[in-house]
Amino acid sequence: MSTLSPRLAEIVAALPLREGMRVLEIGGAPGAAAKAVARRIGHGHILMIDRSAKGIALAEKNAAAEIDAGLMSVRQVAVEDFELLPNEAPFDLAFAVRVGALDGRHPKVGERALKRIADALAPGRRLFIDGGDPLRELQLPPSCFSSEPYLRNGNEPRAVATRTAPTQAQNRSCAVE
Ligand SMILES: C[S@@+](CC[C@H](N)C(=O)[O-])C[C@H]1O[C@@H](n2cnc3c(N)ncnc32)[C@H](O)[C@@H]1O
Repeated sequence: MSTLSPRLAEIVAALPLREGMRVLEIGGAPGAAAKAVARRIGHGHILMIDRSAKGIALAEKNAAAEIDAGLMSVRQVAVEDFELLPNEAPFDLAFAVRVGALDGRHPKVGERALKRIADALAPGRRLFIDGGDPLRELQLPPSCFSSEPYLRNGNEPRAVATRTAPTQAQNRSCAVE
């Protein structure tokens, strides 16, 4: 079982969620916050990633109903290696709670993680972490992808990330170390 602690409940309540959103949670095992987000975004979707295989297995168990309903999915990957799958739509919002790669504890990994997150989010993208009141927003570097409109489910205009040649200005920030 994973119950939502008052701390996580406050964070989920503060996120600017809307119905239909695609949300990315980073380091979300064992899935309590992601389950609560899934309940707030209607027909939207939340992908919860975590680098821990054990954490992912726990989240699969704890959020079986949401996963079966297609409202949530989980993926084992470190945020600094995260990439959209082919044809996977970008996310509208990302958040992370108590994840060292994003809270300044590991600056080198953090720099790489921010680039990966920027490339996985749609225009107008926003990334929130804990440590504010209760959230704080992190500025993202420019994305190495361009966004083009496409039709999802036949009628819903969305954006899809496509690889383009980086501009000269982007060259340095898009280089994968
Ligand atoms: C302290 S726990 C916090 C879990 C949850 N967010 C919460 O607040 O209850 C940190 C989680 O982030 C995951 N994590 C740490 N570094 C990560 C990284 N670089 N990429 C993805 N997940 C990471 C860990 O496996 C762990 O599940």
